[in-house]
Amino acid sequence: MKIVMIGSGYVGLVSGACFADFGHDVVCVDKDAAKIDALKANIMPIFEPGLDTLVRNNVARGVLSFTTDLNEAVSGADAIFIAVGTPSRRGDGHADLSYVYAAAQEIAEAADDHTVIVTKSTVPVGTGDEVERICRETAPAKTLAVVSNPEFLREGAAIDDFKRPDRIVVGSEDEWAQDVLREIYRPLYLNESPILFTSRRTSELIKYAANAFLATKITFINEMADLCEKVGGNVQDVARGIGLDKRIGPKFLNAGPGYGGSCFPKDTLALLKTAQDHESPVRIVEAVVNANDLRKRAMGRKVIGALGGDARGKKVAILGLTFKPNTDDMRDAPSIAVVQALTDAGATVSAYDPEGMEEAAKLLPDVLMADGPYAAAEGAHALVMMTEWDAFRALDLTKMADIMAGKALIDLRNVYQPDDVAKAGFDYTSIGR
Ligand code: UDX
Repeated sequence: MKIVMIGSGYVGLVSGACFADFGHDVVCVDKDAAKIDALKANIMPIFEPGLDTLVRNNVARGVLSFTTDLNEAVSGADAIFIAVGTPSRRGDGHADLSYVYAAAQEIAEAADDHTVIVTKSTVPVGTGDEVERICRETAPAKTLAVVSNPEFLREGAAIDDFKRPDRIVVGSEDEWAQDVLREIYRPLYLNESPILFTSRRTSELIKYAANAFLATKITFINEMADLCEKVGGNVQDVARGIGLDKRIGPKFLNAGPGYGGSCFPKDTLALLKTAQDHESPVRIVEAVVNANDLRKRAMGRKVIGALGGDARGKKVAILGLTFKPNTDDMRDAPSIAVVQALTDAGATVSAYDPEGMEEAAKLLPDVLMADGPYAAAEGAHALVMMTEWDAFRALDLTKMADIMAGKALIDLRNVYQPDDVAKAGFDYTSIGR
């Protein structure tokens, strides 16, 4: 199959490289010439484990290429995927669909007759209808099917998620379009990944419902963690105790500083806006969004509490800045609110992150970026475990305590065991334990 990805960001690039790896012929398009030039030189615009090798191998095999020329790319394509961004619209939190609609129009103009257009971007219910209207209006003589096919890729594990998905969702009632998608994903259902065909609107909703449900699960366990702290429970045991119930399941029950990233904050907000517009409010999701927003700054207060309630003139070292490990993504990272709360309270902040410091420096100009975890901790009064990178899981805590000026360790990811930390002489604060 010949596949074109419009948008060579996170989703377009990972999906395109994986489709090529399955043996399809893939062209990734982007308007950003600098990004395309870099990709041709095998420089990835994002940090994603394994992606550079996957891209290099498939470019070498001649099945993956990059271009800024949409017109040329789409000629002869069986399917054209829209994988452009849908950021939160400034001011009202609705998804900004301008890039999707602009792509739809360009595709409709350039595509051959009888082509399948697949929306992979996360878009609110009904967007497919509008894309179809744009196509009909732009190219009334062409038969173009518009399909929804949401992605469920976790940053840091995106290639594995693409190649071994729990399910593939295809929203289309067009039989020929279903056949094209079935053919595209054939290598996956040979692996027994279930492929679910639904209506286009249902498929669009599945994506939001999945992310909102996962965000709810995290927020639920975070609130249980707060309650554990008040009543003397252990949230990890609570998570295990409920997670062993197969109806609940063990995943996404790690209490922490609140969810961040490019998806959960944006998608939960967009879902509740859509629901409000349809006079069918999703009150649970509204509560989740609110609780998660408040939680991030509350984590800053937790650190100040561990410093005895006064952070003025103190130095706080933060390990990990990205919203989760194995990414350089800083979007909606809880670290931003924590750093803000600390600097508002008069503390100075140093930090180390294995991949995120370049991005973080743009958002947090006052933070002193260090060369490594020990350099960050030098002379600090408190050490905050912010993101659970593997590199922070086996630190020499005794050495760490020796080089610090104070003894507070605030572990917002429950990476360490209280006994081990106590042996090194730290005053330990964790989440819900
Ligand atoms: C998510 C979805 O998992 C993916 O399917 C979707 O398509 C895109 O959004 P991603 O944003 O990459 O992926 O990260 P994910 O691993 O889901 O984590 C999101 C946030 O939740 C992170 O800030 C993470 O630290 C937090 N989290 C996750 C927890 O606090 N506890 C958990 O148990 C799990």
